[in-house]
Amino acid sequence: MKARGAAALAGAALLWAALLHADDAPPQPLPFSHKTHAGTMKLACKMCHPNPDPGETETIVGAAVCMTCHSAIKADSPDIKRLAAYAREGRPVPWVRVYQIPSWVDFSHRAHLEKGNTCQDCHGPVAERDQLARETDLSMGGCMNCHKARKASVGCGFCHEEPH
Ligand code: HEC
Ligand code: HEC
Ligand code: HEC
Ligand code: HEC
Ligand code: HEC
Repeated sequence: MKARGAAALAGAALLWAALLHADDAPPQPLPFSHKTHAGTMKLACKMCHPNPDPGETETIVGAAVCMTCHSAIKADSPDIKRLAAYAREGRPVPWVRVYQIPSWVDFSHRAHLEKGNTCQDCHGPVAERDQLARETDLSMGGCMNCHKARKASVGCGFCHEEPH
């Protein structure tokens, strides 16, 4: 009985977390799902997020890359028709940013990936999410916590080149 109660409680907690999560996700221009593409289909993150030189940003590919599949898959769906229009007109899809830090903070994806940090360390279980919300702390405190844990520097000059 006790175990069942605990399981029900855990279930309620998970449901609550899922509801909170959905609330935090910014509305996006198209109902793109990482759960479908990166979870079920197991597409590699880097297929849609290349890391061009010098490696600071993980970019998001344009609609033309999506259309390599979607010119055939779900081509009749209204959302895919809108996606096709972005590709045809060469316009970027106006995705709403989930994670963003000020441009004057030094940050490089490549430098972090080369030291063995993973996408999940900083962005959570993306491949399980239909919609993305900010679910890890990448404020200065969040950066510092991991730096302390992984023996990386927490000196001010490490992330801030000069006073501003
Ligand atoms: C490797 C092939 C592939 C690529 C590349 C791909 N998708 Fe998909 N996409 C799929 C499949 C498969 C589904 C699920 C179709 C279904 O539900 O039957 C899907 C579903 C979708 C849906 C839901 C469509 C609907 O009406 O149900 C959207 C929106 C979508 N994809 C957007 C994108 C975007 C945006 C990109 C590029 C960033 C992209 N896809 C890249 C294969 C792909
Ligand atoms: C089929 C293409 C595709 C694949 C594969 C894919 N993504 Fe994405 N990703 C997108 C698109 C489109 C967006 C913008 C919409 C959104 O935020 O959901 C995005 C947004 C993101 C963002 C938020 C960026 C911001 O605004 O700050 C993160 C983080 C992310 N992806 C991580 C991942 C990780 C980690 C993987 C692998 C587990 C992955 N993605 C696989 C297409 C993809
Ligand atoms: C050490 C933490 C960390 C790791 C590891 C990490 N990211 Fe990020 N990611 C961030 C931060 C911080 C931002 C916001 C960067 C900014 O605003 O300049 C970000 C932004 C993004 C964006 C938005 C575009 C951009 O570059 O600003 C995407 C997409 C993304 N990450 C995907 C990924 C993927 C895919 C991986 C794994 C290959 C990954 N990230 C690994 C911290 C991380
Ligand atoms: C998941 C853990 C983790 C998080 C979160 C994280 N870092 Fe790091 N960071 C590291 C590790 C590990 C290194 C490598 C230290 C070394 O040289 O051994 C590193 C290195 C760096 C470097 C030096 C890399 C270079 O360019 O050579 C900078 C700058 C940096 N981090 C800034 C940040 C900022 C800003 C944030 C928050 C937005 C952040 N980090 C979040 C783990 C993390
Ligand atoms: C590991 C990386 C890292 C280190 C080390 C670091 N910072 Fe930061 N700092 C950040 C990030 C990321 C932000 C931006 C946070 C945001 O706006 O989300 C920031 C923001 C700030 C801001 C602006 C705060 C605001 O509210 O606008 C100040 C001031 C600052 N840092 C001072 C310092 C000082 C002083 C030190 C040394 C004790 C330090 N930082 C060390 C990453 C770092």
